[in-house]
Amino acid sequence: HALQSLHTFALPCQCHQLVTISDGQQLHDIDFSKPFCLLGEGSNTIFVDDFAGTVIRIALRGISIEERDSDWLIDVAAGENWHALVVHLLEKNIAGLENLALIPGTVGAAPVQNIGAYGVELAEFIEYVEGFDIDTKQCVRLDNAQCEFGYRDSVFKHARKGRFVITQVGLSLNKHWQPKLSYAPLQVLRDRQPTAKQVCETVINIRQSKLPDPNVLANAGSFFKNPIVSNEAVAKLKQRFTTMPVYYVDPHQQKIAAGWLIEQLGLKGHQIGDIAVYQHQALVLVNLGQGTSDDLISMIEYIQQHVWRQFSVRLEHEVRLMGQHDEIHIQGVRN
Ligand code: EPU
Repeated sequence: HALQSLHTFALPCQCHQLVTISDGQQLHDIDFSKPFCLLGEGSNTIFVDDFAGTVIRIALRGISIEERDSDWLIDVAAGENWHALVVHLLEKNIAGLENLALIPGTVGAAPVQNIGAYGVELAEFIEYVEGFDIDTKQCVRLDNAQCEFGYRDSVFKHARKGRFVITQVGLSLNKHWQPKLSYAPLQVLRDRQPTAKQVCETVINIRQSKLPDPNVLANAGSFFKNPIVSNEAVAKLKQRFTTMPVYYVDPHQQKIAAGWLIEQLGLKGHQIGDIAVYQHQALVLVNLGQGTSDDLISMIEYIQQHVWRQFSVRLEHEVRLMGQHDEIHIQGVRN
């Protein structure tokens, strides 16, 4: 089965078999002892080879809203589109998710990488994540702590990786809403007492000005994670690169803007075949149309090597790359 239209980076790969899950009961019939790959809308996964197993597309639908004393509990099936959910809730005057507007992908994929943008992370709203435990064949509900959320990280990338099919997510949205405007480009709204819908519109405008629309130009969002490094390493870099943007993580570490590092290397617009560093945001790689896996892998290694040489910082790709049998990790720099 062709995979090009099933992932937003749109490389021309194939898979052995494709199954679409529209009813949770179907999960009991799947042979999980053979290679498989769970997929939502494919906005954070790139198939870099023909996949020899089954691609399992999660298409479960349904949203229910329960009013409680101080919050709303939103139960959402994993196959719902994330941005459509954000808009749907704002239309019902349920606010909170507006900073996360326009993030591509499904609700079920969102907790895996703990989607985040403009000073807000999904983890703040998660009451539970429910799913099918592949080993016990039981439905399991994990509370927020059990999800072990971190920056672009969760238990679904570690202990439960490949062993858990997220089927439903429970979000708690506080009725006492306050705009979150800490992120620099949102600070213009501070004096205006914006509504949640206005924050949403501003976020949409910022994203549309910086990030390519995957329906127009194939991409998978930020390609690399912003590296988290020690205060000492930041201090050393800051001596040479005084304007380098950094973000607070904890008393010992800071996050560096990887897009800035890549731009400093003069790589905006850099092209290998039809794979390019996006002109307006250097953290995003795009497929101009005829991109190949080989060119993509060359580009990843090229960027990792140059960032390492210039800044002594290792870049880890944030996007999930699927090889012939399993996920692969590219490390352009040897450990
Ligand atoms: N910057 C540059 N040049 C570039 C790109 C960025 O100088 O080409 C600088 C910016 O000027 C800014 C800093 O780097 O000072 C950070 O840039 P930006 O605000 O655009 O965000 P980012 O760190 O590149 C992260 C997330 C995005 C999220 C934005 C906004 C990651 C991996 N990415 O990007 O998430 O939308 O912050 O909060 O953490 C995604 O994960 O796919 C994604 C798009």
